[in-house]
Amino acid sequence: MASGRNNHETVLFRTLRERGQDHLLRFWDVLSERERDMLVADLDRLDFELIDRFQEITQKESYNGGDLSLPSIITVPDTKARREKEKSAFDAGCGLLRGSKLAVFTAAGGQSSRLGLDSPKGTFPVTPVRRKSLFQVLAEKILYMQNRFAVRIPWVIMVSSTNRDQTIAFFESNRFFGLTPDLIRFIEQEEFASFDVSGKIFLREKHRVFMNPSGHGGTFSALKNSGALAWLSGLGAEEIFYSQVDNVLVKVLDPVFVGYHALSGSDMSSKCVMKKDPKEKVGVFICENGKTAVIEYTELETLSGLKNGLRPELFKAGSIAIHMINVRFAEKLVSGGSRLPLHRAHKAIAHIGMDGDKVSPESPNGYKIEMFIFDALKAAGNSVVMEVLREEEFSPLKNKSGDASPQSVEKDQVFFYSGWLEEAGIEVPKHADGSPKYRVEVSPLYAAMKDDFLSKTKKEIVLRGDTYIE
Ligand code: UD1
Repeated sequence: MASGRNNHETVLFRTLRERGQDHLLRFWDVLSERERDMLVADLDRLDFELIDRFQEITQKESYNGGDLSLPSIITVPDTKARREKEKSAFDAGCGLLRGSKLAVFTAAGGQSSRLGLDSPKGTFPVTPVRRKSLFQVLAEKILYMQNRFAVRIPWVIMVSSTNRDQTIAFFESNRFFGLTPDLIRFIEQEEFASFDVSGKIFLREKHRVFMNPSGHGGTFSALKNSGALAWLSGLGAEEIFYSQVDNVLVKVLDPVFVGYHALSGSDMSSKCVMKKDPKEKVGVFICENGKTAVIEYTELETLSGLKNGLRPELFKAGSIAIHMINVRFAEKLVSGGSRLPLHRAHKAIAHIGMDGDKVSPESPNGYKIEMFIFDALKAAGNSVVMEVLREEEFSPLKNKSGDASPQSVEKDQVFFYSGWLEEAGIEVPKHADGSPKYRVEVSPLYAAMKDDFLSKTKKEIVLRGDTYIE
């Protein structure tokens, strides 16, 4: 059995033995000094509380919610009175923007495993004409809002250990897309070990423990531990606009959403779209014992299968992972060092087998542990859910092909911007099936909000081919 080279290692190895995890040391004798250092560094990052709670996390029923009903939702306005309410929210949101009270947060720490990428998802070229990356689109939307409201907007980007360096290098080589580097912070999220079904931690290499990012729920601890939360407070930010890097249509800092959130004194607010079909892979908003909550789609399957049947009328408000988070609420949430609930994801995890060979299973062989950002809703004193139109605000990049793929994301943008052009009175040539004939893209630097686009665009524009408006 491996023995440590120093006191620290001796104690660490004993702790592993006591927890039945000393198989992680089985290649110790064949490792170089450098590899041993790397293994010890990984082992030092293990969270023993999580290891101790493995049984509890993986065996508890994935969702044991109580009395479920539809939450109250601010629906898309269809009457004059509602449009007036929306206008008040818009004005309130603009007030916060002008007062420099807002910050932007982007979750970009995932592994892009479904997309099969080696580089961070945010670097993927997505726009129809100029092939701008997801990061560039976000950066330009922020830059537009900064100029529009004559303010400086801090931006926090959450990365993970595997994509941190590539992400920062991408921003540097693109000169931060015109933003001030001092106003951008890259923060790293926590990582959790991955386990086999019996609770043994996997090795990724003979000298590396298999770790995976802690899920979007890692946002709060990452904000605190990196000092970014204090940084934002110091800059006077009171509210954080949160979204994921993968949604190209996100309306960054949408004043209406900001306004509804602020006017209702909400701790954490959310946007939703009506689900396309009951099986769509999005979390759903529900009201659980009187409180707004989200059930993740992976857990809904168990719940709907076992208990409620597929009740589409109840599970219809899909989460598009866009939130407003009050800074003081975030501070409160992390102040006691407490964590959001831990969830298990049953996954196929490639690893190093007992004999040292690589094992690449086809079907799930273990668990990744994750936290979900929306579990924070349960701690929120007040919470607003606002419905938006899918074709205007939700087109995520998740898969290699089919739904939520590079092709669908391009198509959604072409439809979206063609719609703006048509509203501006410009003729958009169409194919027989009604789809736009040419690719159209509007630079967020020209207009990141539809009303701004309409007020500055002349209807004399004639489309004769793929068109980029800047
Ligand atoms: C997520 C949401 C789901 C929502 C859907 C909408 C959660 C747990 N799930 O599901 O409710 O309906 O998006 O698109 O919130 N990321 C991190 N750190 C991580 C994991 C992911 O920063 O540890 C980032 C990724 O970079 C990615 C984004 O979050 O951009 C989405 O992650 P993904 O795992 O694809 O989420 P979904 O399963 O699609």
